[in-house]
Amino acid sequence: MWGPLGAWVYDRTLSRAEETCLADWRRALLENAHGDVLEIGAGTGANLAHYPPAVRRLVLAEPDAGMRSRLKRKVGERPEVTVVDATAEAIPLPDRAFDVVVSTLVLCSVESPGRSLAEVWRVLRPGGTLLFLEHVAAELPGRLRWQRVLEPGWRFMAGNCHLTRRTEDAIAEMGFALEDVRRESIRKVAGVVRPSVRGVARKS
Ligand SMILES: C[S@@+](CC[C@H](N)C(=O)[O-])C[C@H]1O[C@@H](n2cnc3c(N)ncnc32)[C@H](O)[C@@H]1O
Repeated sequence: MWGPLGAWVYDRTLSRAEETCLADWRRALLENAHGDVLEIGAGTGANLAHYPPAVRRLVLAEPDAGMRSRLKRKVGERPEVTVVDATAEAIPLPDRAFDVVVSTLVLCSVESPGRSLAEVWRVLRPGGTLLFLEHVAAELPGRLRWQRVLEPGWRFMAGNCHLTRRTEDAIAEMGFALEDVRRESIRKVAGVVRPSVRGVARKS
């Protein structure tokens, strides 16, 4: 878990990547957000500035107290936004309550991607979408080897962040139809977290 210091370090560590590419990717992805939206693992609120006016209600779920406290400060007084203490594996919200679920750099860190995606599926309305941006296992064998070697220590230091998850496959296996998928290297971060995938996953 992150705690207050970890949350501060997280923001500092990602700041150059945000300037170079991540903020643009977040903005483009979140242009698809509308209606009732749930964000899982909302962290310190890096996506907040990018939600369009078409979002009517925004629920930000974040289980880590340090992250949540920075998140609440960033939200301030916005009546359409609620912050809740919840993991993606146990979302304390009703079935089919959301048009859109957002997950950015989260499915690497959850205990169970399968249970998390099952919860995302449950809370989405039919036709609803999961907007995702995740770092994943490398396609290059050399880089994948390094990811495997470094993964145990990385998980320990970076809030259970796994380096070798095949998140796109896990999303497809849950039954989502993948649209507009892009694979790109995240710039200005360590080589082992550069491979990324982002896109829209639709619940039938
Ligand atoms: C790398 S940070 C990403 C934060 C933010 N989504 C972003 O895009 O910057 C991973 C986040 O996932 C959260 N997290 C860890 N385990 C989780 C779980 N089981 N369910 C939901 N979120 C979790 C962490 O507390 C942290 O805020």
